[in-house]
Amino acid sequence: MLEQRYTLNDGTRVPRLAFGTWQISDADACRAVTDAIGTGYRLIDTAVDYGNERGVGQAIRECGLKRSDLQVVSKIPHDMKTYQGTKRTIDESLDRLDIGYLDLMLIHSPKPWPELDAHSPKTYFEENLEVWKAMEEAVEDGRIKALGVSNFGIADIQNILDNAAIAPVVNQIRVHVGHVPADVISYCRERGIVIMAFAPNATGKLLHHPITTAIAARYGVSVPQLCIRFDLQLGTMPLPKTLSRERMAQNADVDFVISDDDMAELLKVPEVNNLG
Ligand SMILES: NC(=O)c1ccc[n+]([C@@H]2O[C@H](COP(=O)([O-])OP(=O)(O)OC[C@H]3O[C@@H](n4cnc5c(N)ncnc54)[C@H](OP(=O)(O)O)[C@@H]3O)[C@@H](O)[C@H]2O)c1
Repeated sequence: MLEQRYTLNDGTRVPRLAFGTWQISDADACRAVTDAIGTGYRLIDTAVDYGNERGVGQAIRECGLKRSDLQVVSKIPHDMKTYQGTKRTIDESLDRLDIGYLDLMLIHSPKPWPELDAHSPKTYFEENLEVWKAMEEAVEDGRIKALGVSNFGIADIQNILDNAAIAPVVNQIRVHVGHVPADVISYCRERGIVIMAFAPNATGKLLHHPITTAIAARYGVSVPQLCIRFDLQLGTMPLPKTLSRERMAQNADVDFVISDDDMAELLKVPEVNNLG
């Protein structure tokens, strides 16, 4: 699975399956990312807010592969909503990573977390365009190759598409058994925006779920393998996170096919919260 690729709307080829690093400390990040690259992962997802860009960058520099064989994604923090602040954030992120350029920079959230979590009606359309402008300038400078968004709803994306020069190539959102935002997924698909599926295992909450456990047993696979395959069959790019090299390999060993009937059953699983 690690060799398979999607094509982004700017023509860039990206892996169908990538490696997530949320909740991996800066101290552990170099070893974890080195192991992930050794396993065959070629796209690494980090963020300014994860506090591990230094360790991620060290692994990219020291892994022995050409920089162009790897893709690295970072994210502008949820509460950074100014042009000047974003310019500074990009400089600092690139300094910490020290890998020459970023393949993708995302706006981590359309609004600060407390407002996103509370489903606040307040929008940050103007602010996100300011952030985007600073990101576009880094693309013009060659320091970032492509831009994307994360946790964006349809109106938030439409704002960028209507007003910005560079279109987002991805939207990184939560997609897993028990949480499939079908409207955003199909809106993005129609516009060639690839969905990066975060928390494919619902941050661990699906590991002992009765339905995923029962279906995984029928296929002779682990629950994470079933959950990752589910996201792949939705046409998204899952980003499983694990600190264990053995699990990194297991999570990429997903060349089985979930039947239409089982996909339908998995799509009916009631809401599973990845946190809480
Ligand atoms: N854009 C956003 O707002 C956002 C939000 C959340 C996440 N993300 C991204 O998405 C990535 C994935 O989300 P997530 O970190 O919640 O990951 P996840 O893969 O849904 O869950 C990770 C949990 O599952 C366990 N796990 C993974 N593979 C396993 C296996 N084969 N067997 C048993 N347990 C396994 C991990 O444990 P061990 O580590 O102990 O193996 C960890 O406890 C993040 O790392 C981050 O890059 C983005």
